[in-house]
Amino acid sequence: MSKILILNGPNLNLLGRREPEIYGSANLGDLENLLKEEFPTVEFEFFQTNSEQALIEKLHQAFEDGSDVVLNPAAFTHYSYALRDACAVLTSSGSKLIEVHISNPHSREEFRHNSVISGVATGVIAGFGLRSYVLAVSQLLAN
Ligand code: DQA
Repeated sequence: MSKILILNGPNLNLLGRREPEIYGSANLGDLENLLKEEFPTVEFEFFQTNSEQALIEKLHQAFEDGSDVVLNPAAFTHYSYALRDACAVLTSSGSKLIEVHISNPHSREEFRHNSVISGVATGVIAGFGLRSYVLAVSQLLAN
């Protein structure tokens, strides 16, 4: 299998310091180490950005490369039709895209209950902290 792209959206650069009561005390470096430890033979590319444009361009790159993606769209989850369309480009081409969330958005504010991404994702995993990413990668490898 080609490499797996782990994409994190806005404000996730502050993971570990951002609302730790919701997102925990581990940071993005800990996420990278966790995934490399759990899946030593997998080639990962890790990318975080606060920019919608940069996320879309990474999804276009995954489309060109035929890569599978684990995406935490963060707040873009709830309103970015442009990001949804980029995800659809990828999944309609046969690549897999798993939408992940650290928290369970359905147990939080009402605006977080809707995802514009889920309808074009291969699957969705939410609410298991950083283990959400581990579950997503396991599923990509299972298929
Ligand atoms: C999040 C949930 C979103 O509602 C929020 O905007 C985030 C993080 C999560 O991982 O739980 O930034 O995607």
